Amino acid sequence: MRPDPRVGPTHDEADLLRRARDVRARAYAPYSQFHVGAIVVTPTATYAGVNVENASYRMTTCAEQTAIARMVAEGDRGPILAVAVVGDGADPCTPCGACRQTIFEFGPDAVVYASGDAGHPLVARITELLPHGFGPHRLAQGQR
Ligand code: THU
Repeated sequence: MRPDPRVGPTHDEADLLRRARDVRARAYAPYSQFHVGAIVVTPTATYAGVNVENASYRMTTCAEQTAIARMVAEGDRGPILAVAVVGDGADPCTPCGACRQTIFEFGPDAVVYASGDAGHPLVARITELLPHGFGPHRLAQGQR
């Protein structure tokens, strides 16, 4: 998944969505049967994630969160430039509320490409998906 460092990670919407769709095949979703793949883009690398469910349902991890955890584990703090998400079914698979907050933490200017298996992807800034978000900058104001 590491891009050529001479050219940096791709920002091509179609390529990112194709890669998110490809990795979706590895999702562990035996309970919901709803498979999700995600690709996170930073200035230096890209990271793939899938949803990972659990018999204790509430322990489920979303695809976006899996990809972001991999990013952090690699020592990459972003900023996240883009996130591509593909879920089963026709309509765009927009990130859930918790994932929007996690994307915002590392990418307040990130672009989100959300797709399903039909129609046009939804393209939006994370700030459109999470208006007036609470993040590290606001937290720091209260810690002075
Ligand atoms: N899911 C994601 O992985 N990302 C989202 O943004 C929406 C939901 C997963 C969680 C769960 O495994 C399945 O989709 C059904 O909610």
